[in-house]
Amino acid sequence: MSEPAVRITVCPEGPLLVRGDFEVVDVEGNRLDKRRTIALCRCGGSATKPFCDGTHKVNGFERP
Ligand code: FES
Repeated sequence: MSEPAVRITVCPEGPLLVRGDFEVVDVEGNRLDKRRTIALCRCGGSATKPFCDGTHKVNGFERP
């Protein structure tokens, strides 16, 4: 079985880490980011959505 092109890791009480060859675009297709690794907010508290800014560490976000 080959390695996936993109891997998404759910961090306990934190973001989704996305690693691989991908790009993040808005609804119009404009590129927001193109890196090999990004962290996407899943707590809803980031001031830089869709990216994690570390707010999950202070806003009481609790998810496995
Ligand atoms: S998951 Fe990090 S700021 Fe939301």
